[in-house]
Amino acid sequence: MGKNKLKKFEEIKQFAHVVQVPFHIIKHSDYKLKGKWAQEHFKNNNPLILELGCGKGEYTVSLAKQNPNINYIGIDIKGARMWKGAKQIDEENIKNAAFLRTHIEMINQFFDNEEVSEIWLTFPDPQMRKTRRRLTATNFMEKYQKSF
Ligand SMILES: C[S@@+](CC[C@H](N)C(=O)[O-])C[C@H]1O[C@@H](n2cnc3c(N)ncnc32)[C@H](O)[C@@H]1O
Repeated sequence: MGKNKLKKFEEIKQFAHVVQVPFHIIKHSDYKLKGKWAQEHFKNNNPLILELGCGKGEYTVSLAKQNPNINYIGIDIKGARMWKGAKQIDEENIKNAAFLRTHIEMINQFFDNEEVSEIWLTFPDPQMRKTRRRLTATNFMEKYQKSF
């Protein structure tokens, strides 16, 4: 693994607005902020919008800047990509955006029924061979529905 990637992994651990929970922990229990992201993380009662497979987080960051009364969470498994958006919200002190590094398969461990107002899913991986892994596959759609 490149030095630059390791540096990003280290740096991302320091950001208060980035949540990373090891798979073996989240596999067995819900995350402590489930149902409470607005009140306990963002300290408000604003609606919550998720960007799934956010990559570098461009949409999360720019939507958050345009809509300060909405909370945004970008979700992706790739920490080194997410680092770019995470660094920007840290440097620009954007209070209504956060990042969650996890497998989107685990989404119901993080968000409660009716907690999420909207999801954005832009340019997902096509997954030509393993269609069940597509973020638009029926098995994923059923999970998203539980958080609306
Ligand atoms: C093609 S990129 C698109 C990035 C961004 N949405 C954009 O429009 O620039 C797809 C992203 O989805 C993420 N992704 C795909 N499947 C995922 C999964 N099951 N859990 C978490 N992230 C996933 C990948 O890591 C990748 O960053």
